[in-house]
Amino acid sequence: MTAAEVMDLAGAADLSQDHIDIAAVLDQLVSDADASAATTIGYPGAVDLDHREVVDRLARRLWNNIGDISDDGGFAHTRVLERAVVAWVADQLAVPDDDRWGYVTTGGTEGNLAALCAARRRYPTARIYYSGSSHYSIRKLVGILGAQGVSVRADERGEMDYDDLAAQLHRRKRWPAIVVGTAGTTLTEAVDDTDRLRDLLTAHAGGGLLHVDAALSGIPLALDGRLRLDDAAGISSIAVSGHKFLGTPVPCGVVLVRGSAHSLASRIAYTGTVDTTISGSRCGLAAALLWHSIAVQGREGHRWRAVRARHLAAYAVEQINAIGWHAWRHDHAFTVVVQTPPADVRNKWVLATESSVSHLICMPGITRKQIDAFVTDLAAAVSRPTALRPRTPADDADLTTTTH
Ligand SMILES: Cc1ncc(COP(=O)(O)O)c(C=O)c1O
Repeated sequence: MTAAEVMDLAGAADLSQDHIDIAAVLDQLVSDADASAATTIGYPGAVDLDHREVVDRLARRLWNNIGDISDDGGFAHTRVLERAVVAWVADQLAVPDDDRWGYVTTGGTEGNLAALCAARRRYPTARIYYSGSSHYSIRKLVGILGAQGVSVRADERGEMDYDDLAAQLHRRKRWPAIVVGTAGTTLTEAVDDTDRLRDLLTAHAGGGLLHVDAALSGIPLALDGRLRLDDAAGISSIAVSGHKFLGTPVPCGVVLVRGSAHSLASRIAYTGTVDTTISGSRCGLAAALLWHSIAVQGREGHRWRAVRARHLAAYAVEQINAIGWHAWRHDHAFTVVVQTPPADVRNKWVLATESSVSHLICMPGITRKQIDAFVTDLAAAVSRPTALRPRTPADDADLTTTTH
């Protein structure tokens, strides 16, 4: 029986049926996920951590963290853990002790939204600058905020073009600027040079501030000491995802905003807390899962996870180039950028693709065996005579676009 037939029989899609075989539906979900895991190497969720200890113990209660995490009032079930997570992330980024407001979000997008809202409160007329390699959510958030966005060129490896940013800032020198840098772009894991962004902003007549979207690379770069939010860095806010490097089994993230932007929020009688967050009810289970990832691994454990993942990425580049197919990576990256493989490879392997460029990501949990199997399939496909002909628009028509 196919997976779809099992789901159908069990009544997964029609909740009005009298009998639904819940166990069969859940088993099928797990077995589908297990089956696709072996060939899913294109998306950045780490898959090496086991969170059953948390999920098994917490599954029978509601875990809702309403309100500001520094509150003592109201009710917030895992607030103690959320505070610990925010403090740990702030420590890794060297945020000064007296200026480290933040909270556990639903993911990178909400973190970017919370940070951009705070930035707009300080600079309501600011133009928001982001690069052509920024995550698609940034452009969307600019629209949600009703702000004016400015798209800045990126180079072919995904890094912001600083000369273009300087020119764009100069053209709008009367207006404050909110510059969104990226630490780990979605397609190539490029990292914008935040010192250069800070210097350009410092020289900008209209003033402004710097936000860093560090969904993927924020934690690993912080562990290397390569990303800091201390006073010298000149970064006002940062958003990281929790389900990427920190490997939680539910989407989540952490946002940190410097400069006490939250002090403007009001106290809500009904919740008994100050309303500083984008959503009201927030997932206390996510905070517990993040806390668990950090408690189990510690700083050193996470550093080793990053080191091992980068080694595997370097190995993947070597192996792919060895069969005559183009691949490269940034030196800090888990992401291996490859010339888009032929369709039969893409049909089997879950990669992320934008036209002639694809990537695989050696997140913790991806194994050398998986990379070897991928390279074997790629080698077989490219050795076929049609594989190396130049791409045509028809080839591109069936390519999926990166949407994670
Ligand atoms: C650079 C970057 N920013 C933001 C996001 C959005 O994060 P989330 O999906 O956690 O909202 C992603 C997701 O891949 C990303 O790569």
